[in-house]
Parts: sequence; C-alpha cells; structure tokens
Amino acid sequence: TGLVVAMDGPSGSGKSSVSRGVARALGLRYLDTGAMYRAMTWWMLEQGVDLADPAAIAARAGEPQIVSGTDPDAPAIHVDGVDVAGPIRQSDVTGAVSVVAAVPEVRVRLVALQREIAGAGDIVIEGRDIGTVVCPEAAVKVYLTASAEARARRRSAEVAGSTVEAQQAAMAKRDTLDSTRKTDPLSMADGAVELDTTALGLEEVIAEVLRLVAE
Ligand code: ADP
Ligand code: CDP
Repeated sequence: TGLVVAMDGPSGSGKSSVSRGVARALGLRYLDTGAMYRAMTWWMLEQGVDLADPAAIAARAGEPQIVSGTDPDAPAIHVDGVDVAGPIRQSDVTGAVSVVAAVPEVRVRLVALQREIAGAGDIVIEGRDIGTVVCPEAAVKVYLTASAEARARRRSAEVAGSTVEAQQAAMAKRDTLDSTRKTDPLSMADGAVELDTTALGLEEVIAEVLRLVAE
C-alpha cells in the first residue's frame, strides 16, 4: 500500500490548506474527515433530530449515505446524493458538529468509511483522530497548532461579517468539546511531529511537511 500522511490539529491550525497543498505537490489523494462529521450534522439538522439527546443521534447515525471525494483540487461531499459542500460550512452546522461528533455510534460509522477510503494509501487525510485512531500506521503524522488568536484571525478572514473575538470564543468551545469527549478525543498521536504554524506562511508549512515526507 502507498503513502499515508495523517494531519491532525484544532480548528484553524491549517489542516485543510496544508493537506491539499501537500497532496497536490505529491500527486496524492486528499480526505477531509471533518467534512464527513459536518455532513452527518447537516443531515441530523435537516431531519430535525434532537441534538440535545445523544441517544436520538445514535439511533439515526446509520441512515445517511455520506460520499466523500478525494481530489485535492475539487473536494466534494454528498449526502444521499445531495451536494452539501456549501451548507456544511454554515454556522448552524459549525455550532452543532462537535456535539454530533462526540456520539460513539457516529464515530464508529465514519471511522469505518474513512479507513475504507484510506486503505489503498497514496493519501493525505486530515481530522482530529487520524494519527491516533483512523490511520495509526501512517508513515508520516503531523500535528498542526497555532495560537488561539492566530487561528481565530484566519477563520474570521474567511467568514463574512464575523469578528475575531466571536470566532475565538466559538472555536474555544469546539476545541474543549473535541479534546474532552470520551471517544477518540483530539490529541497528539505517538510518533507525530508537532508544527506550530503561528508565525509561518502556508507555503512554509507545506514545505516543512514535504521535508518530513522525504525523510
Ligand atoms: P483547518 O483545516 O485546520 O481548520 P484551514 O486550512 O481551513 O485550517 O485554514 C484556515 C485559514 O487559515 C485558511 O484561510 C488558510 O488559508 C489560512 N492559513 C492556514 N495556514 C496558514 C498559515 N500558516 N499562515 C497563514 N494563514 C494560514
Ligand atoms: O473547519 P474546522 O477545522 O474548524 O473543523 P473540521 O475539520 O471541519 O471539523 C469539524 C468538527 O468535526 C470538529 O470540530 C470535530 O468536532 C469533528 N471532527 C472529529 O471529531 N473528528 C475528525 N477526524 C474530524 C472532525
């Protein structure tokens, strides 16, 4: 099997941009596992599932058909045949995704899908539990970080009409949920290399990861 690069870290640390850049440079596939948790959350909201009730989320977690593309130049995500690439980035989904992602039945289902896609290798796969759970055998594991302020500044530059302060508060809430949940919390994998991107440009981070791959 081919090369697997596992990329983990909190929101706004640069996972998506760096992973796509690395995949492009090396001709690898690319999988955004966060988009799959977002797609599951979008579907739960559409269905009117009570997100305050983990048992209700668990009972429906097997229903939506989630299909993820692996082209770094055109990331695609469909739920039951509907293109949800736009809607999954909206604030209702962003505000609910960490609650849905904490439900073990959701994780079991999506981790199985992710392993199926990653199995053939030749892929850069990004998320919160890639180096620890989805692909613990990955040849290269990267843990991206950046200061909370830098991450919030980056995200607020992408989201129209948002302030850095509001982004930072929303991110802090999600980071806490993601790193304290019982199942597969965000944490640095054994053998991962930590890269603090606060003071680095995107191209510098990509070059550093390419250097790790070449080692
Ligand atoms: P994540 O996937 O970890 O949430 P993204 O890749 O979506 O992070 O990055 C969020 C934003 O920050 C993007 O607009 C991206 O271009 C920008 N960004 C990422 N890495 C850097 C960096 N090292 N320096 C400056 N901006 C960056
Ligand atoms: O866009 P952003 O980096 O902020 O987040 P994302 O990568 O799209 O992931 C959205 C959410 O999905 C995270 O906050 C986690 O709650 C969840 N997630 C997860 O639990 N495990 C993963 N492997 C990927 C994402």
